[in-house]
Amino acid sequence: MMNFEEKLEHSLDHLEQSRVKEAMLYSLCAPAKRLRPRMIYSVLKGYGLDESKGDYCALAIEMIHSYSLIHDDLPCMDDDDLRRGQKTCHCQFDEATALLAGDALLSEAFGLLMKTDCSAEIKNDLVSEFVNAIGANGMILGQMLDLISEEQQADVQMCSKIDILKTGCLFSLAMISGCLLAEKKTDKEVWRKIGYKLGLAFQIQDDCLDVSSTAQVLGKSLSDEKNHKSTFVSELGFKKAEKLYQQYFDEIENDLKMCNIQIEPVMDIINQIRHRDH
Ligand code: IPE
Ligand code: IPE
Ligand code: MG
Ligand code: MG
Ligand code: MG
Repeated sequence: MMNFEEKLEHSLDHLEQSRVKEAMLYSLCAPAKRLRPRMIYSVLKGYGLDESKGDYCALAIEMIHSYSLIHDDLPCMDDDDLRRGQKTCHCQFDEATALLAGDALLSEAFGLLMKTDCSAEIKNDLVSEFVNAIGANGMILGQMLDLISEEQQADVQMCSKIDILKTGCLFSLAMISGCLLAEKKTDKEVWRKIGYKLGLAFQIQDDCLDVSSTAQVLGKSLSDEKNHKSTFVSELGFKKAEKLYQQYFDEIENDLKMCNIQIEPVMDIINQIRHRDH
């Protein structure tokens, strides 16, 4: 049985050898936390199901996340040179290759998603959830508003919107994917809410780490200040931002207790996120 890292390494075996494939694997297989795949697996486990049911979905979401990071780091976006403990894709290769590697990871993600062994109805729901979460009403809108917030200062309400969109949408998608694969569609909206709140808590924590940690520990560049980003830290100050994300983590724990599943697997990953240092 292959572990998740091995599955990732083999996920592009069907592609012709090329510079773009090399760049895709370079970014995708670099050391990372794999939080979103683990969320899918933990929801499935919480429903008492075999994790392997989530394999294609998990690979797809990690490809989409990796594509979003490659593009997020480009000079026209956050302009960063370190990611996942190594040079960013455009620094290792070049901008055009990084752009194409991101595009191709997004495309290949849908190819994998389609391989999921489930009913046509569930697959249909999954694909719509993917499209809505990552498109111009979801993650992409979040990234757009995030960039605009460099020029036009965003208040706390706008920062919440940005974070829920740019980060929460993918977290929700992971939770919802697990729920749909478990054939528990009626629980979907509960998971959506938990995913949004977890994404928000995670992103405020990310903004705090951006000022309190180091590039060495995080394995990525610290660039919010350089980019004049509006974040919870710039708007509320570090102490209040830290208090706020802790409060969200407490709320998430309570929300989970209301769910009709065995919560330990999901609580485990939430606690790992809460106490992370990178
Ligand atoms: C980084 O996500 C991007 C944000 C949403 C802040 P992760 O912290 O999950 O990054 P990796 O996948 O472990 O590199
Ligand atoms: C990135 O947010 C969110 C997405 C890639 C969608 P950030 O710009 O804060 O992430 P890092 O700090 O570069 O990982
Ligand atoms: Mg960014
Ligand atoms: Mg960034
Ligand atoms: Mg950040």
